[in-house]
Amino acid sequence: MSYETLAADGGRPGEPTAILEDYDRACATFDWDETRRLLGRLPAGGLNIAHAALDRWVVNGTGDRVAMRFISRQWQRRNYSYAELSRLSSRFANVLQDLGVEPGDRVFTLAGRIPELYVSLFGALKFGAVYSPLFSAFGPEPVSARLEIGGGRVLVTTRSLYRRKVLPVRDRLPALEHVLLTDASGAELPPGTRSFAELMDAAGDAWRIPPTDPEALALLHFTSGTTGKPKGAMHAHEAVVAHYATGRYALDLHPGDVYWCTADPGWVTGISYGAISPLANGVTMIIDEEEFDAARWYRILDEERVNVWYTAPTAIRMLMKQGKELAAAHHYDRLRHLASVGEPLNPEGVLWGKEVFGRPFHDTWWQTETGAIMIANFRGAEVRPGSMGRPVPGIEASIVRVSRDDDGNPVAAEPVTEPGTHGELALQPGWPSMFRGYLGNEARYRRCFAGGWYLSGDMAKRDADGWFWFVGRADDVIKSAGHLISPFEVESVLLEHPAVAEAGVIGLPDPVAGEVVKAFVELKPGHAGSDELALQLVGFARKRLGAALAPRSIAFSSRLPRTRSGKIMRRLLKARELGLPEGDTSTLEQNG
Ligand code: WT7
Repeated sequence: MSYETLAADGGRPGEPTAILEDYDRACATFDWDETRRLLGRLPAGGLNIAHAALDRWVVNGTGDRVAMRFISRQWQRRNYSYAELSRLSSRFANVLQDLGVEPGDRVFTLAGRIPELYVSLFGALKFGAVYSPLFSAFGPEPVSARLEIGGGRVLVTTRSLYRRKVLPVRDRLPALEHVLLTDASGAELPPGTRSFAELMDAAGDAWRIPPTDPEALALLHFTSGTTGKPKGAMHAHEAVVAHYATGRYALDLHPGDVYWCTADPGWVTGISYGAISPLANGVTMIIDEEEFDAARWYRILDEERVNVWYTAPTAIRMLMKQGKELAAAHHYDRLRHLASVGEPLNPEGVLWGKEVFGRPFHDTWWQTETGAIMIANFRGAEVRPGSMGRPVPGIEASIVRVSRDDDGNPVAAEPVTEPGTHGELALQPGWPSMFRGYLGNEARYRRCFAGGWYLSGDMAKRDADGWFWFVGRADDVIKSAGHLISPFEVESVLLEHPAVAEAGVIGLPDPVAGEVVKAFVELKPGHAGSDELALQLVGFARKRLGAALAPRSIAFSSRLPRTRSGKIMRRLLKARELGLPEGDTSTLEQNG
């Protein structure tokens, strides 16, 4: 079924006009250098994300505006001005200095949406450290894997997260010198931890950001592939140029707007668009400590008079599931622009936005590696429900046909011009927030490029007018509730269970979460599959991986399908489970 294009929305009376009014003109005239100039330079020289997001507003005399409105779980609201966030982050830079941390060291957070996370982020950047967020729903295994790869020296977290997720693996992390707890002090501190608040109190709040090379590393965002360990995508301070530009073009952020990004700060969206882009654009950002809650969300949109809202398809589907009536209790007359990211947004979701809020959701596409929005439906333009949109000005995207060698490495990429042809979505490298590599894995980085293109790993098509449509992933990674999950990471944990001989993990379609994780398990001799063992395995996986990554269900198999070289064929597991054609099975082992 195809859906009608929605005409460009001229906006309600009194609303500011769209920043991107004329798409073709903006693309023709866009210049990254001009955007760089708009952001200004660091007084000491260079470019620093924290200066672009916080200090420059203090310098230009508008630091008293609200940068962050924090809403606690108990609905206590607390405003932080740009000047206050600037001061607190300077204090944290001093804390790092007092601890003997060196520029370039990695500072991690493991926390939900708490003010200390944002202070740590910008304080680490002011100091010259590299900041890396961990998702608070990760279990000890994914937490330790990422801290280890990143060589984390400092970790900011809470007492309960420390006890449940870090303490069990701390002896594996010799580089982790300082653990700062945001909600404990004095005698309550577990051994080997310190109080964030006490260190902040003892530190000064004067800090001069040292000269920062725009190419200096600033952010480390972990993402998942189908094989091997998590990949740490490295981003430079220069990324803020793209965060700023895309905040304007794709999210239509006007200075003074109230803006709400619902993404968790444990992932790239919650940092790029839940902190850096809005502050670089001078808006007030809403930070709600609570997790998804439909009634609460409608109340926030209404009472906080949100102008621009950036959320995700799973959340939209959860709202849809609870019905329009709940939404009808509130008014959304300030809501000007609705956008979504992270997984395919079904046309029904786009249109539901229009019905309930008077505005369609605008799908956007990007990845951890791209650091910022690459493709979007724009406020000032028509919306094609089901399409990811068109490249943001300054970005060249294409559909390419990739040739690979016997090991699967790409050797050439040829753009396909025929509209509607499926191929891999590729981008012309060189934009400011492009990842600079995977930490400690140069070979994997090189495999992302061929023929002068960055290969996204997504299959897509482009229509005759230049709009991009998502087709599916080119690999086996799973997308559940917007989170990228590596089947390998889940399989590795299942293999640690004494009854498990082999495991194959896939994503099954789910009407709300997009996909849910399912594991197929081959048992060791002497073990028999039972409901009880399945439950035990789910519990085993949950404890180690956390709720975000653990499989929802387990099925037993006497022999998982393997290639002749012994690799589990996840693609075939999935096809069989869904009753789909098995495709090319020429590499399948004989008794598979
Ligand atoms: C993968 C990247 C986007 C930042 C947060 C996630 C999928 C993303 C869309 C979309 C269909 C989408 C892709 C992409 N994805 N946006 N609009 N439509 N799929 O970053 O965890 O690196 O995931 O998310 O498969 O490659 P990520």
